[in-house]
Amino acid sequence: MANEDTRAGTSYASDKILDWTNEAHVKHDAALDTAARAHETDGLPAIHLGPSEAKLLHLLAGMIGAKKIVEIGTLAGYSAIWLGRALPEDGMLYCLELDEHAASVARRNLEAAGLGDRSRVIVGPALESLKEIAAEAPFCMVFIDADKAGYAEYARQTIALLRDGGLLVGDNCFLFGRLLDEGDPAAISMRSFHQEVAYALESVCVPTPDGLVIGRKIPAAT
Ligand code: SAH
Ligand code: DHB
Ligand code: MG
Repeated sequence: MANEDTRAGTSYASDKILDWTNEAHVKHDAALDTAARAHETDGLPAIHLGPSEAKLLHLLAGMIGAKKIVEIGTLAGYSAIWLGRALPEDGMLYCLELDEHAASVARRNLEAAGLGDRSRVIVGPALESLKEIAAEAPFCMVFIDADKAGYAEYARQTIALLRDGGLLVGDNCFLFGRLLDEGDPAAISMRSFHQEVAYALESVCVPTPDGLVIGRKIPAAT
C-alpha cells in the first residue's frame, strides 16, 4: 500500500533550532565532551552520532531496561558512553571496533566516563567479534553504526541474538542520501537491511538527518 500521502511534510529542523533544542535537552559532562572532540584531539574522523540521536539511544536502552548491549562501530566511544550510561551496575556493553587506535581511544573515554567495568571494547572485524560474544546472548539491544555495506549481514547475525522485546538500531540508514541509488552495492545492501529488519521486527526508519532504523523483536506467536 502506498503511503506517500501520509508522510511528514517539510522539515522545520533548522541548524539554529537543532542547536537550541540540543542545548536544552542534551547535557554533556567532561567525558562526553572529550569523546565528541576526538576528531580534534585523537586524529579520528568527526562521524559520531549527533547528540539527539545519541540521547535517544540512551532513552531507548533505559526504557527497555537493557542489561546487555552490543555496539557495532564504536569510534571514540561517544555513542557508547550514552549507551553504557543506560545500563545497571551489572550490565555490559560490548563495543565492536575494527580500528585499533579508535578502540584504545574508546577504552580511555569509557573509563573516564566511569564505564570501565561495564564495557568491553573488542578489536577486529565485527562479524568475527560477534562470533566471540555470541555465547553472551541474548542481547537486549544492538546498535549498528559501522561499515554501511555490512548492515544487512549484521542484522542477519544479530536479530537471532536479541531477546524478546529487544531492539535493533541502525544509523545512516539513508546511506548519506544514496539509499535508492540503482547500481551501488552499498545501497543494494542497505535496502536489504531495511527489508530484513522490516520483515523480522516491528520497525520504523526515523527521519533523522541520515535515517535511524529502530526495530523491536516481538515474541513469536504461539
Ligand atoms: N558509533 C560511533 C561512531 C562510529 S563511526 C559514535 O557515534 O560515537 C564508524 C566506526 O565503525 C569507525 O570507528 C570504524 O572504524 C568502524 N568500523 C568500520 N568497519 C568495521 C568493521 N568491519 N567492524 C567493526 N567496526 C568497523
Ligand atoms: C560515516 C560513518 C558514520 O557512521 C556516520 O554517521 C557518518 C559518516 C563515514 O564512514 O563517513
Ligand atoms: Mg553513523
